[in-house]
Amino acid sequence: MSAPAAEREATGVFSPGRARILARTLRVDRWWLSPLLTVLGLSAFIIYATVRSFVRSAYWVADYHYLTPFYSPCLSESCVPGSSHFGTPFPELPMWIPLGFVVLPFLLGFRVTCYYYRKAYYRSVWFSPPACAVAEPHSRYTGETRLPLIIQNAHRYFFYAAVIVSLINTYDAITAFHGKGGGFGFGLGNVILLVNVILLWTYTLSCHSCRHVTGGRLKHFSAHPVRYWMWSQVSKLNTRHMQFAWITLGTLVLTDFYVMLVASDTISDLRFVG
Ligand code: FES
Repeated sequence: MSAPAAEREATGVFSPGRARILARTLRVDRWWLSPLLTVLGLSAFIIYATVRSFVRSAYWVADYHYLTPFYSPCLSESCVPGSSHFGTPFPELPMWIPLGFVVLPFLLGFRVTCYYYRKAYYRSVWFSPPACAVAEPHSRYTGETRLPLIIQNAHRYFFYAAVIVSLINTYDAITAFHGKGGGFGFGLGNVILLVNVILLWTYTLSCHSCRHVTGGRLKHFSAHPVRYWMWSQVSKLNTRHMQFAWITLGTLVLTDFYVMLVASDTISDLRFVG
């Protein structure tokens, strides 16, 4: 717990020159609702994704070639036959290693260092600060200048990795157009996989690092019309980055859940063709 306001170091909102208000906040509205919803939403996703990543069941529909994104790419001999689109360069893995272990750390790093998620969990989890005009409980502030938070500056490299993972997810979505007896097939699962991968691309391409990759380090946009156009499109997506961050958490869960239901024969895939 933080020290009572009166006993704190004279920093932040308690610095000399700031209004001498002992209460943490004078706000009477429900300022705590947004941080609370953020914590609940992030916690729900983390719990679901962790459980699903470790269970090693119902992640591949052999009939229609549906593979959940939590297990893609599946690169170990522990993967069920057919689910390894890129071969099995790794041997059998113990149960405590998720089968998606090659990309999960990069995806986690991409989301954890994301500018939006940083804002979300700094405010909601670390209370730094919890809301406008609500004093934070910490008496010291070092920003992102020291370990571990200085690692946040590696976000651009996680972005590069996320582009590769999005390409892999795209490949998975395309190979899932597979009929039961072979050849072309198309069902509700394809729609879900496709929508998920399109939204993953919108989240990835709306990244602030992508904006810099496309339009940064230029002196004159007029001399680089193609990059200016790309930067303009990314900038439009970027204005919705927070929405894409949340929507893609939802579509990832929905996609995995649907694949799980079909793979476990709990429901049948709604087939349109094949
Ligand atoms: Fe959010 Fe890059 S993914 S800022």
